[in-house]
Amino acid sequence: ETPTLIDSDTASDDTTAITLASALTNLKAITVVAGNVKFENEIKNAIFTKEYLSLNVPIYAGSRRPLLGIWRTVEEVHGTHGMGNINQIEVKGSVENEFASDAIISLARKYQGELEVFAVSPLTNLALAFLKEPTLPSLIKKIWIMGGAFSRGNTSPLAEFNFWTDPESAQIVLNAGFDITIVPWEVTEESAIVYDDEWEEIKSLGTRRSYLFIKANEIMREFSKSKEGLDGSVHPDSLTVSISYDNSIAVKTSKFYVNVETCGMSRGGMLVDWYNMTGNKPNAEIVLKADREKFVKLLISVLSA
Ligand code: BDR
Ligand code: CA
Repeated sequence: ETPTLIDSDTASDDTTAITLASALTNLKAITVVAGNVKFENEIKNAIFTKEYLSLNVPIYAGSRRPLLGIWRTVEEVHGTHGMGNINQIEVKGSVENEFASDAIISLARKYQGELEVFAVSPLTNLALAFLKEPTLPSLIKKIWIMGGAFSRGNTSPLAEFNFWTDPESAQIVLNAGFDITIVPWEVTEESAIVYDDEWEEIKSLGTRRSYLFIKANEIMREFSKSKEGLDGSVHPDSLTVSISYDNSIAVKTSKFYVNVETCGMSRGGMLVDWYNMTGNKPNAEIVLKADREKFVKLLISVLSA
């Protein structure tokens, strides 16, 4: 099993991604970064998820804010605490002492050439890790990034939330020389959706994993339906982990030079050099199309256990 690390802004779908990563891979650590909701709540949510699922995985707190600029948390999407309708978030444990970026470096050294990272959040922790350890791209096998939008942003007209929150970090990580696969927002809008009948099927599974899935994602699902006009709940982070486990879920991929805008109204927008106009070497593989049914099948099989 592949040793992995998940870097998360723990709220709703991030907890499902943790569920999948712990079930399908050899999950070595959860690192937390500023993003979806108040940092203290993200930490609590990560500990809650770990304890609820009885995971034996250390949690490391990372950056409490993006490198530059001001971002906003999105409690309206994920619920007041970020865990949908789970309001009593009581936890016993705590996080490790080591800073998340240092933990990323330590694990990358320990599992040199083997470690895969699920970057399903703003890229601050990874950018800081790279700035401290410039050889990191040669130590980490692969980074699976959920982030970026081709043009239909979910946070600004051009920008997806993770890239919008910390575009400078996204720029640093994309240009660092990592082996990267990106799962962009539009692909998840189309293929990371759980329709109503599937939602009901998951509800009726009656497992701890399925209960956590339903409760944590209920508010996000309402938001996706009412504000984004989608036909169900959308699970970008979970799709990203699933593609790493079963590459055939990514039906169409291609390599491009990719960068991120940092100015004005296009701040956080993803720039894809479709026709190699810059002449720059491709630095990322982009998932252009994914198999929704295969993804949901895998999700249900994991949640049923
Ligand atoms: C991204 O933002 C978060 O709300 C989700 O977990 C996902 O990582 C989607 O834009
Ligand atoms: Ca996330």
